[in-house]
Amino acid sequence: QVFFKRIDSAAPESPTKRHTKISVIGAGNVGMAIAQTILTQDLVDELALVDAKPDKLRGEMLDLQHAAAFLPRTKIVADVDYNITVRSDLCIVTAGARQIPGETRLNLLHRNVALFQTIIPPLAKYSPDTIFLIVSNPVDILTYVAWKLSGFPPNRVIGSGTNLDSSRFRFLIADHLDVNAQDVQAYIVGEHGDSSVALWSSISVGGVPVLSFLKQQQIAYERETLENIHKEVINSAYEVIRLKGYTSWAIGYSVASLARTLLRDQRRIHPVSVLARGFYDIDCGDVFLSLPSQLGRGGVIGVTNVHMNDEETQRLQSSAKTISDLVSQLDL
Ligand code: NAI
Ligand code: 2OP
Repeated sequence: QVFFKRIDSAAPESPTKRHTKISVIGAGNVGMAIAQTILTQDLVDELALVDAKPDKLRGEMLDLQHAAAFLPRTKIVADVDYNITVRSDLCIVTAGARQIPGETRLNLLHRNVALFQTIIPPLAKYSPDTIFLIVSNPVDILTYVAWKLSGFPPNRVIGSGTNLDSSRFRFLIADHLDVNAQDVQAYIVGEHGDSSVALWSSISVGGVPVLSFLKQQQIAYERETLENIHKEVINSAYEVIRLKGYTSWAIGYSVASLARTLLRDQRRIHPVSVLARGFYDIDCGDVFLSLPSQLGRGGVIGVTNVHMNDEETQRLQSSAKTISDLVSQLDL
């Protein structure tokens, strides 16, 4: 070698460092926002991209590879064949139809279930120990579909769920109170979509419970203001889709943050879509929806027992029913 003389005793690869790999299925707006956020965060040794369109896929791969001089070193590979995903630690699925302006997420169900029947089995075959992180919509039902089609234990099948809605919620509350969104603890749970539930009774800012603080200080707050903030969360995606055609940056950051918690065993609590049977008296069968869950290297560790008042519990159960009614119509 002209530029580099190898030390004879050096092992070709460090025997102690495990090779980590994420596969992203679907190299569209969402898949690429996730891929680029993951790259900037130095999360893995290898990133594999899969899409059904070979030219688009190769173009996206080259475009990311050309940023090598500015990024942590990551091997980036891409192929239409699922064998490229072999031995992934995490498979992130974003492939599928997206909403046109005004369309609901639930309307995508049948098109995307058909796609999942071709996507999930090969992923499970090439990476039997992987964790699935589902993003395609309707995400809660497709997480159930991925669970059924993979045969994986439920702790290794997760939907990105309301991690994104909760970030939108925290942004709007922070904006309203003029504080930093990272100091706002607030959850949206239930369906990622129109029947989501805002947990007002457990919101805190810098450790101060917001509703009881306002009551104690006898500061009047309008229930309508709170309802409007939640309505704005629900409307967020519709508005962005109307304006730019799709949503991408926020889901990119949301999913990269989940990937970090999972692969780096951070044990943080995220509102994500998990098998909800038995939690919060949800008893409408096997249904995936978002609950604040502790995540680590093995997937879902547990579901936290966050305080919910009667109205919130009732709304969560009704959201579960909305999802389970659709799940019961599926023929898998
Ligand atoms: P897009 O149309 O830009 O990308 C979808 C990609 O999937 C395309 O590149 C397409 O070629 C690919 N694809 C289709 N069939 C495939 C197959 N069988 N195998 C591999 N790739 C295949 O759509 P976009 O904007 O990226 O959205 C993707 C999905 O993510 C949609 O279902 C959308 O609703 C969902 N989404 C979910 C969010 C969440 O919070 N859960 C947030 C934003 C979008
Ligand atoms: C979002 O909430 C459309 O589910 C997608 O951005």
